[in-house]
Amino acid sequence: MKARKIEIKYEIHSIGELGAEDRKLVDAAIEATQRSYAPYSHFHVGAAALLENDVIVTGTNQENVAYPSGLCAERTALFYANSQYPYVPVKALAIVGISEVNGMNRTPLSPCGACRQVMLETENRFATPMRVLLCGKEEVYIVESAKDLLPFAFDNY
Ligand code: THU
Repeated sequence: MKARKIEIKYEIHSIGELGAEDRKLVDAAIEATQRSYAPYSHFHVGAAALLENDVIVTGTNQENVAYPSGLCAERTALFYANSQYPYVPVKALAIVGISEVNGMNRTPLSPCGACRQVMLETENRFATPMRVLLCGKEEVYIVESAKDLLPFAFDNY
């Protein structure tokens, strides 16, 4: 029997100690939550993607009365970015969640599995690591690559 261990590194920052570029991206994600459509969950998610050409593209969760037809904020942002700029890598993605009941997530918002798979695809198609900023009220977790969030990702090789 063999065993292996997978480790990931993530940084823990307070919002106040973020650099200017990261702060701008986090603010864009927070601002984007205002454009979320979440009449069912009342949980507003914002994602902001920083492209290599320094354009910031935002996305929000878009819910639907037929629940599975909705889409998460991260995929909305990345699909839009990749549709508008199919040759421009995405350098970073910030994600925040704001509940109508409890306000901003206390702990950093962790993306769902399907969004992780799409984040990884974006990273791979441009062969450029995508930093991911998971935002909470008190702390922001930063991983240097979407790969870190999805060990044993599906691939068809
Ligand atoms: N949601 C996201 O936008 N991103 C995620 O990574 C997980 C969940 C949305 C889906 C739904 O509109 C709401 O959050 C509550 O689950």
